[in-house]
Amino acid sequence: MKKVLAVLLAGSMAAALAACGSTKSTDSAAQSSAANTIATEAAGASTEADGAATEAAAAATEAAAQTDLSGSKYLSDGVMTVALNSTFPPFEYLGDGSDDFSAITSNPTQATGFDVALVNEIGTRLGVKVEIEDMDFDGIIAAIGTKADVAATGMTINDERKKSVNFSDPYYDATQAVLLTKDSSIATEDDLKKASSIGVQQGTTGENIARGINDAATVSVKSFNQAVADLMNGKNDAVIVDQSTGEAFLSQNPDKLKLLPGSQFKFDTEQYGIAMPKDDEVMLGAINGALEAMKADGTYDSLVEKYINNYEAQ
Ligand code: ARG
Repeated sequence: MKKVLAVLLAGSMAAALAACGSTKSTDSAAQSSAANTIATEAAGASTEADGAATEAAAAATEAAAQTDLSGSKYLSDGVMTVALNSTFPPFEYLGDGSDDFSAITSNPTQATGFDVALVNEIGTRLGVKVEIEDMDFDGIIAAIGTKADVAATGMTINDERKKSVNFSDPYYDATQAVLLTKDSSIATEDDLKKASSIGVQQGTTGENIARGINDAATVSVKSFNQAVADLMNGKNDAVIVDQSTGEAFLSQNPDKLKLLPGSQFKFDTEQYGIAMPKDDEVMLGAINGALEAMKADGTYDSLVEKYINNYEAQ
């Protein structure tokens, strides 16, 4: 517990250190008040900021690596079991880790994508082995704390889920979007009200939205691959899916599909978090510390670039 607190302090100091260029000491607790003082002087110290940012990032990484997980109910065994549903490119899909999403349907067995890379990186930083458990999305909340230690699966943080699980700090901003065949005339919420079949993945925020708009037309299936296949073969009029995932499916079939942004349908913005059991504050602190360090040292941005931005630019 004590060391985790130190990690949190070290993490929150990273920004202050980045700006002032102070060298880190090993005693984080003692540093925290100094950091506050230093932070007020930060504005003037711009010339050294770049080098110091690297240094602060390294400090945060090191702090995370030193995290003592012996007090963690779920991670003290040295293994972090991660639940996900691998029909959600580019966050998790069965493939070779490239942005060639044809792999989604072609038969590979390896879950890959942004979330997989994210949890592997967290595992490395915390010194735990990562094991992936691929399962239906609608079973994931119940699996946390039993079949899996955490879930990293593009899961939107919301109040309903917070009743059952803790979420890490948000790691990705999202919205739902509407995937359509190119010739579709659907363009507004009113059009969705008149649709006869709206495909969604069971248990998702997209399902909630579809049911709110047109419950009778909502068709919930276990996988996004299925919902999109049903769109392509004419069974669905539309699929409500997270924007980045919609773009990934679109990139597979740019001649047949189009994607309309959620703003056009007044959908709210969402944020993804890593979900975990409520009874492990040590794990929560450790995972947030690792996330923060990854953001500070550029690892997070390079993963976004590699897995998410790559195909969006095409
Ligand atoms: N963001 C949406 C939600 O939390 C969809 C997530 C679906 N994830 C998946 N791996 N299939 O409900």
